[in-house]
Amino acid sequence: MARGLETTTMMLESVALCAAVVLVLLPPTMAAGSGDGGGAGFEFDYRNALHSGLLYFEAQRSGHLPYNQRVRWRGHSGLADGLQQGVDLVGGYYDAGDNVKFGLPMAFTVTMLSWSAVEFGEEIAAAGERRHVLEAIKWGTDYLLKAHTAPDELWAEVGDGDTDHYCWQRPEDMTTSRQAYKVDRDNPGSDVAGETAAALAAASIVFRSSNPHYSHLLLHHAEQLFEFGDKYRGKYDSSIGEVWSYYASVSGYGDEMLWAALWLHRATGRRGYLDYAVAMADEFGGTGWAITEFSWDVKYAGLQILAAKVLMEGNHPEEHRATLEQYKSKAEHYLCACLGKNAGGADDNVNRTAGGMLFVRQWNNMQYVTNAAFLLTVYSRYQQKNSDELVRCSGGETATAGELMALARAQADYVLGANPAGVSYMVGYGRRFPRRVHHRGASIVSHRADGRFIGCVQGYDDWFRRGGANPNVVVGAIVGGPDHRDRFRDSRDNYMQTEACTYNTAPMVGVFAHLHGEKTANAR
Ligand SMILES: *[C@@H]1O[C@H](CO)[C@@H](O)[C@H](O)[C@H]1NC(C)=O
Repeated sequence: MARGLETTTMMLESVALCAAVVLVLLPPTMAAGSGDGGGAGFEFDYRNALHSGLLYFEAQRSGHLPYNQRVRWRGHSGLADGLQQGVDLVGGYYDAGDNVKFGLPMAFTVTMLSWSAVEFGEEIAAAGERRHVLEAIKWGTDYLLKAHTAPDELWAEVGDGDTDHYCWQRPEDMTTSRQAYKVDRDNPGSDVAGETAAALAAASIVFRSSNPHYSHLLLHHAEQLFEFGDKYRGKYDSSIGEVWSYYASVSGYGDEMLWAALWLHRATGRRGYLDYAVAMADEFGGTGWAITEFSWDVKYAGLQILAAKVLMEGNHPEEHRATLEQYKSKAEHYLCACLGKNAGGADDNVNRTAGGMLFVRQWNNMQYVTNAAFLLTVYSRYQQKNSDELVRCSGGETATAGELMALARAQADYVLGANPAGVSYMVGYGRRFPRRVHHRGASIVSHRADGRFIGCVQGYDDWFRRGGANPNVVVGAIVGGPDHRDRFRDSRDNYMQTEACTYNTAPMVGVFAHLHGEKTANAR
């Protein structure tokens, strides 16, 4: 792939996202969104999908792989990360199909894996995957702890996208720059600090009973990172220009700081964190933004749902009620937008393809689908626990927990193959799935099978441009997926559709675990 093209298109994408965020403030003009989200009579093996999804995190590992590594086509990589800077930055995850370690999406991936484990831990254990989910989270948190080298210092990227994309190499062969970039007091990054705090706080809940010492350590770092993000405010893409073309924080840091506060409140039960989320609700947009997407960048819907949970459980001082109600009504706006039940215009409801897929935008649309499926699943659980409370949509419509779950299931089933193309967008699941995933390691013969070094551009000539299927199947990866007309082209150069990201699969760990649990409960 031409580096210039990828970079330019990514920049356009950032601009498009920016435009989308701005648009939601304009008066609505057109109605959009319809359909009932019902299933199509397919029978899916959610347990297998859960198992596959957790394997994917092993394929994305950077660093020294352990003896029990199950994905055998991967080897050690990035073993000198941080050496130049005098810090140990070995480990962590590659975000997608390249060999850069980006802190913001990595931390978000860990938050969503942890949320899956916090909420659906019993279902994950019943499916026999408890150990694997803990390992997937810990691979991320071990790295995030290393990257937090001082109270006010966090390493937020290793490698840089431009030189990385110039080459097509297995991570095991990398010859590209491993420059590392950090945020600190003079170069703040409240978004990446806030997301990392959220990830560590959420993970501390996961490890509370099985590894209390580790859980405390995670919480300690989370609290420091939250303070750092709050005290030295700024967007990390202003401090680290290298992230701009790849993971610019378009929504700013307000959402991450509120998200971190609410996760810290959930992890510690301390009132101070809830006070913060209430006091800063307006300034940081928590009660102002009604947004119809949830992603590694834009977290308002997720944090509004966390705040709604506090309200529904009555787990708050009375003076916080009014603000929490506002949070909740914005959470409901998001859920109703997914259901197509908001009164109002085109920007008030998420569009759907003819095949029923929620459609937000062309580039890696599946991330919005899987994250929406997760939020719908989680919220339907909160509704059920709160005497089957209804979701209230603008315009007077309501939605039951069953309706939310039906839509979440329809999206999960679409991912697994209930779609017009008849393709599973989860790699390795079913008979038809993408064979030319835009993934350096998967598309090149494994180091184990042929250890000869493959140079920077040699990889493009010998492997990227081959027509055939990838030699390694990156099981459990969920690719960017089809366009607004349910069309998908399985080609390595079609990175908008065939690249997979860790944050596409992470939320599905919770969704698949829940769907599997429901199925076994119904079978009884
Ligand atoms: C739905 O699609 C229409 C037409 O392309 C667009 O104007 C609108 O913004 C979309 N809605 C959302 C919420 O993205």
